[in-house]
Amino acid sequence: MSSHFGNVLSLTTFGESHGKSVGGVLDGCPPNVSLTEADIQPQLNRRRPGQSHLTTDREEMDMVTIVSGVEDGRTLGTPIAFYVANRDQVPGDYERFRTIPRPSHADFTYQAKYGTRSISGGGRASARETIARVAGGAMAERILMERAGVEIVAWVSAVGNIEAPGMDMNLISRGEVDQNLVRCPHTETAEKMSRLIASLKENRDSVGGIVNCVCRKVPAGLGEPVFGKMEALLAQAMLSIPATKGFEIGSGFSGTRMQGSEHNDPFISTENGLRTKTNFSGGIQGGITNGEAIYFRVAFKPPATIGIAQQTVDFEGLETILESRGRHDPCVVPRAVPIVEGMAALVIADMLLLQKTRKQGSS
Ligand SMILES: Cc1cc2nc3c(=O)[nH]c(=O)nc-3n(C[C@H](O)[C@H](O)[C@H](O)COP(=O)(O)O)c2cc1C
Repeated sequence: MSSHFGNVLSLTTFGESHGKSVGGVLDGCPPNVSLTEADIQPQLNRRRPGQSHLTTDREEMDMVTIVSGVEDGRTLGTPIAFYVANRDQVPGDYERFRTIPRPSHADFTYQAKYGTRSISGGGRASARETIARVAGGAMAERILMERAGVEIVAWVSAVGNIEAPGMDMNLISRGEVDQNLVRCPHTETAEKMSRLIASLKENRDSVGGIVNCVCRKVPAGLGEPVFGKMEALLAQAMLSIPATKGFEIGSGFSGTRMQGSEHNDPFISTENGLRTKTNFSGGIQGGITNGEAIYFRVAFKPPATIGIAQQTVDFEGLETILESRGRHDPCVVPRAVPIVEGMAALVIADMLLLQKTRKQGSS
């Protein structure tokens, strides 16, 4: 189902980028989880447009309102509906795209699928849809925090060909990630990334990047073989985020260059039971979490809407030059960080709740 995600804990999202509001319904949240809008707003603030000179200039405060499922700061077990109003719409910016589909955006494909589309803005293909993922994800994090103490931290590891050195995934925190506008916790690299994004914005062009994510303290036993493997669910969740082009978990593609004797994660005995000495598996074996940190990375393309003149054709097939006007992100990764965290939280919380039905006495 196109706007519905998850099984036991499920999120349905709604809204177009230039409509009145965007929002969602989170269903399946257990009762008595501590939750207010203040638990959600910080993540929305990290996602919102207009937050710095490196993002789109669209100015939205993105204040969330919960309309059901919560009373006196506690969930009721009933569907949690929420919305964020759209305020800073300039539909005129999109007038050009009425007749000319933007190269590498979703104008042509939405038209091909539905025979119509939201012309006043990017509609459902706009990143405004991800507001509901971030809000739903923040709620899922409340469940994960209360039930298992799970910690999820994402950060920017590359912008264009500027790459940050490896980070200690056991220690990295959201506080460190937010120390600069790019959300790369390596200050020197962040400055270079920042300069690159600013210069591309100035030149009306765009650039891609990579978001890394670590999920710590995930209990062993989560994930549903064979089609609901944890890594498969995470891949689906991440590749459903707009502008994603790649997903890699654990050793990923670099593991193909290793030998089994180097790549295997030997078991060690600890006071907390069996652990592994290394973690090339990325915390998942046979589609089931093994109690080690889950880590993965997500590739984001350069945003399609650019001001630089592009040779293309209109819907009639006539040659034309497209120079996009309006406010657009020169690079999506600084804003994608809370989206990746939110989608990871939704997947893991869903599997945590499902696991209750699988093994007596499990969390
Ligand atoms: C946080 C975020 C911000 C985005 N901002 C823009 C933007 O300003 N301009 C644009 O053309 N695409 C932007 N995108 C990407 C488009 O939404 C996306 O490329 C488009 O829907 C086509 O889908 P696809 O790239 O997944 O194929 C953004 C994506 C994210 C995650």
